Amino acid sequence: MTTAKCDGPAGRILVVGGYGAVGATVTSTLAEWFPGRVVPGGRDEARARRHGGVRIDVSDPVGFRQVLDGLGDVTAVVLCVEPPDAVIARACLERGIHMVDIGATRRLLDAVAELHGLAVGAGATAVLSVGVAPGLTNLLARRAHDAVGGAQRLDLTVLLGSGERHGVDAVRWTVAGLAEPVTARPERTVLPGYGTRTAHPFPFSDQHSLSRTLSVPEVTTRLCLDSRPLTAALFALRRTGLLRTGTARPGVQRMLTAAFSRVHLGGDGFAVRADARRGDRHAAYALTGREQSRVSGLVAAYVTRALLTAALPAGVHHIEQLRALADLPETLAAHGVTLLRRLDPQPQR
Ligand SMILES: NC(=O)c1ccc[n+]([C@@H]2O[C@H](COP(=O)([O-])OP(=O)(O)OC[C@H]3O[C@@H](n4cnc5c(N)ncnc54)[C@H](OP(=O)(O)O)[C@@H]3O)[C@@H](O)[C@H]2O)c1
Repeated sequence: MTTAKCDGPAGRILVVGGYGAVGATVTSTLAEWFPGRVVPGGRDEARARRHGGVRIDVSDPVGFRQVLDGLGDVTAVVLCVEPPDAVIARACLERGIHMVDIGATRRLLDAVAELHGLAVGAGATAVLSVGVAPGLTNLLARRAHDAVGGAQRLDLTVLLGSGERHGVDAVRWTVAGLAEPVTARPERTVLPGYGTRTAHPFPFSDQHSLSRTLSVPEVTTRLCLDSRPLTAALFALRRTGLLRTGTARPGVQRMLTAAFSRVHLGGDGFAVRADARRGDRHAAYALTGREQSRVSGLVAAYVTRALLTAALPAGVHHIEQLRALADLPETLAAHGVTLLRRLDPQPQR
């Protein structure tokens, strides 16, 4: 890891969810670069204080504003937990506080993107789509898109290690995603180190934001796990409709969340791949690494560092819109992430 201390505007960095699976890496990495300036936060007061932080709850906007105003010198907030709506983002941006959001829910990211004018007026920058997916998927998609001279179609594939101890909130988010309706088809894709895998359409936010930021008409993100049997079982369960919300499904979702939080079959590796197509042109990029929570946290830490030191433009931006962040996959090589450029093209489908 780069341990050199950084300058940048004075003031503290509040990491909300700062002792969770992703947030713990954000907190420790930023604390190396900005010693004495990082404040982790969460709802458990005793735990927050043990980490030198504060009690804070994103579902309590009044209390959230009081914490921001009480700290008095917060320069940046890193959201490592999804708030219920965009009120928390508004509270940060209207105060001129920069923001990094690792959330993966389309509805929430769209609501924050609507605060662009407010952020510009306040001189604040918010970066969305930060992590592995969304995040690194967006950056690979941008490269593949540029390589074909503007994609007509983008296919993103995410493989997650079912042996990793993913955070509870991340598991809950994934199980909830299984309940959403599906329009695209599964696809077979080669993932470096994992062979040919069947990946299933999944509601990661990247496919929606990329279709707008890159003006690509057809974008689909698909998911598989490193364990083939678990992938097959999970998506067979989805096809039964048992997980859909609105009926007696929350109980089934809770059971599945608990099972995934306890059972760790498989490894802790992950892979992402982006394929862009335009006519008969095809470009593909992929990367692999270990521990998606840790790498998501590293992406958030590097984005925060760029926010504080690289004069990013004011406003709300998805990661692929900021050229200063385009080399992040190469930067992550120091943390065991391997980038593969232009994989052998897959046969045209
Ligand atoms: N972009 C990506 O690639 C990516 C990757 C992984 C995860 N994520 C997203 O990141 C989020 C966190 O994932 P995780 O794996 O780190 O989960 P986690 O281990 O469960 O961590 C969640 C953290 O947030 C805190 N928290 C929960 N509710 C809160 C609230 N209302 N107010 C303030 N703090 C709260 C928790 O502490 P307390 O319970 O003490 O409050 C905990 O520290 C999830 O929404 C997940 O979907 C995104």
